[in-house]
Amino acid sequence: MTNTQQIKIDSAQLTAELDALAKISQEPAPVVTRVVFTEADLRARAYVKGLCTAAGLDVREDAIGNTFARWNGSDAKAGVVGTGSHIDAIPNAGMYDGVVGVLGGLEAIRALQRAGYKPKRSIELLIFTAEEPTRFGIGCLGSRLLAGTMTPDAARALRDKQELPLEEVRTAAGFIGELEKVKLPAGYYSAFVELHIEQGPILEREKIPLGVVTSIAAPASFRLWFEGEGGHAGGKLMPGRRDALVAASEVVIATETAALASGAVDTVATVGVCDVFPGAVNSIPSRVRLELDVRDTDSKRRDAVIGKILAAAEAVGKRKEIGVKTEWINADEPAQSGEEIVAAMCAACEAGGHNYQRMVSRAYHDSLFMARIAPVAMLFIPCRGGVSHRPDEYASPEDIARGTEVLARTLASLAG
Ligand code: GLV
Ligand code: MN
Ligand code: MN
Repeated sequence: MTNTQQIKIDSAQLTAELDALAKISQEPAPVVTRVVFTEADLRARAYVKGLCTAAGLDVREDAIGNTFARWNGSDAKAGVVGTGSHIDAIPNAGMYDGVVGVLGGLEAIRALQRAGYKPKRSIELLIFTAEEPTRFGIGCLGSRLLAGTMTPDAARALRDKQELPLEEVRTAAGFIGELEKVKLPAGYYSAFVELHIEQGPILEREKIPLGVVTSIAAPASFRLWFEGEGGHAGGKLMPGRRDALVAASEVVIATETAALASGAVDTVATVGVCDVFPGAVNSIPSRVRLELDVRDTDSKRRDAVIGKILAAAEAVGKRKEIGVKTEWINADEPAQSGEEIVAAMCAACEAGGHNYQRMVSRAYHDSLFMARIAPVAMLFIPCRGGVSHRPDEYASPEDIARGTEVLARTLASLAG
């Protein structure tokens, strides 16, 4: 066991690495857009793998591109302690979501190395593939496959927005192994911990520098297709129109109403995608695709909200003679953190003399799926104004360094 007083985070180095990774983007700074398996994603992966190799870690990748960088422990048979997050970024994103958990995880390992700590259990940094749903419509693709909550067949059926099959896209990116081999054997991880920005306003508002996550809310997402009748925007008179966008708009409003009516702050519902066909100003929309995201800490309450949204869609479809079709993407159960991992994280906060609070994650994370195969906990740091999924997302170097230090202490205590 190391003297934990010797754990010193190199904040300047970590900040420089965060800045360097932020520059690897499909769009100019300050926007970070890094969609999975694009050239930017592959360059970002190469950058992080280079840092891992430089730290003396053994790097391997699986068939979906999940990347594992291992610091071998003295007990090769013991379950591994995992940490990490994702480096893919949604369109028009910022530079901290996911990345803090990857580069912070790496710096935590390097800080332990510098402190002379020798792990008993191996410590593994994980960079998950496609935490974000941007390309294939479903989030946490890599961790779902690792945990076995998505079958290889279901993954093979995925296509991206250009209708390219996942198989074609991943092999073109150089990931050619069998998807059957991605699922981890039982007991592979003895613990998994993820450092992440909060993506909400609570820590900043309460002036508490750290949040220990005790549960992760249950996400669900689905598509609604509206099929009406198109035509000339000038020639076709208003009576009897079957405008698919007008029908879809009623459902957008019903979505907000249903979420608000749940009465719980934990219920959130968003229509984040609205595709209009043919998408011409002088043409009546004949077809619309909405993509909806509904979440709650209570999956029954979430499902009741979804029920109301679907009922509203059916009602407007009947009233306006618009065909309505539902296509499910995911409906996941919430996850509880492992009590012993939470205790280790709280103890690590206390050992560093840092105030913390227990909290819920309303955003989803790869830890939601890692929790199906290992005890997990997450550590949140504040982000300015609670802003995330925007280019002005910001976490201070001090907050990042504090989170990284607590992560290092947590890893040391879990790895023995
Ligand atoms: C993850 O990015 C989420 O949408 O919660
Ligand atoms: Mn995100
Ligand atoms: Mn994230």
